[in-house]
Amino acid sequence: MLEVVDLKKQYKQTRAVDGVNLFLEEGEIVGLLGPNGAGKSTTISMMSTLIKPTSGDVRYLNESVVKHPQKLRENLGVVPQEIALYPELTAKENLEFFGKIYKMDKQLLKQRMEEVFQLIGLENKKKELVKHFSGGMKRRLNIGAALLHQPSILFMDEPTVGIDPQSRNYILDTVKQLNKEHHITIVYTSHYMEEVEYLCDRIYIMDEGKIIASGTKQEIKNILSSEQTFIVEAQSLKKEFIERFKKDGAVQQLSYSENKVTIIVPKETNYFHTIIQTVEEEKQELKSVEVQKPSLEDVFLHLTGKALRD
Ligand SMILES: Nc1ncnc2c1ncn2[C@@H]1O[C@H](COP(=O)(O)OP(=O)(O)OP(=O)(O)O)[C@@H](O)[C@H]1O
Ligand SMILES: [Mg+2]
Repeated sequence: MLEVVDLKKQYKQTRAVDGVNLFLEEGEIVGLLGPNGAGKSTTISMMSTLIKPTSGDVRYLNESVVKHPQKLRENLGVVPQEIALYPELTAKENLEFFGKIYKMDKQLLKQRMEEVFQLIGLENKKKELVKHFSGGMKRRLNIGAALLHQPSILFMDEPTVGIDPQSRNYILDTVKQLNKEHHITIVYTSHYMEEVEYLCDRIYIMDEGKIIASGTKQEIKNILSSEQTFIVEAQSLKKEFIERFKKDGAVQQLSYSENKVTIIVPKETNYFHTIIQTVEEEKQELKSVEVQKPSLEDVFLHLTGKALRD
């Protein structure tokens, strides 16, 4: 449905987007995940025809949107990262304003506003000034504005940043509902791994302007399938105990605190046995030994050497 081909954006010294390729099939929720400055918003802006690429192309229904943006614009809703609302206007007046931008017929707009207010759960707040809204309510109205003209594709750029958990859950459930019940195809940008894991069918992981991994959750986690992670907990870990793992050539990664050590080893080794043996030999008291399944967070750390929320 939508395809991004070798997309680049250069700002003076900064290469914000550096050769991104991705695609979007009808009916999917696709996640675009990456830390601050990865190039997510710039990619979304080029995909939604708001800014022009330095090179590369975005194709919608086999036509370049750089040259012919109109068809995509009609079918697209964008929820920008920065809230774009008028604080001095009421919620209703804000939506009316967006309806005018979309050149919507008055009667249709009235009907759509009712539906949208219900969807975003702000039916009782229509007449309140937006400046009196909580962060979560503003985020919801921001989403509502993007839905007025019934887009079939929706780009959401970090729609849950800086809001309370309740609003966040509300928004996540709304995103699912939009996809399942209203059949909207969604690109969801976030640096919260758990959101993307919860929502998305497929995920692209982005860092420093490039896509560094892509696929279903399982496919991405399989990147780590050659490793296994053990977490050993105790009241207090002995220095000698930790030293044994530091010296062991089989250990790929080691991190520890006073009462917990995390050990990453190749999958094929029977390391559980080694850990238990070392516990006995060093007379280390023990609370638990846990084998950890890889998370997307681990994949990111593995690929980039840094935590997602840096
Ligand atoms: N208009 C601009 N002029 C100059 N540099 C820019 C501009 N917009 C973005 N950049 C730079 O491009 C890089 C990517 O920025 P972008 O906003 O796309 O990242 P992001 O992944 O959306 O980050 P965040 O999670 O913080 O929203 C950053 O280094 C940023 O400073
Ligand atoms: Mg951004």
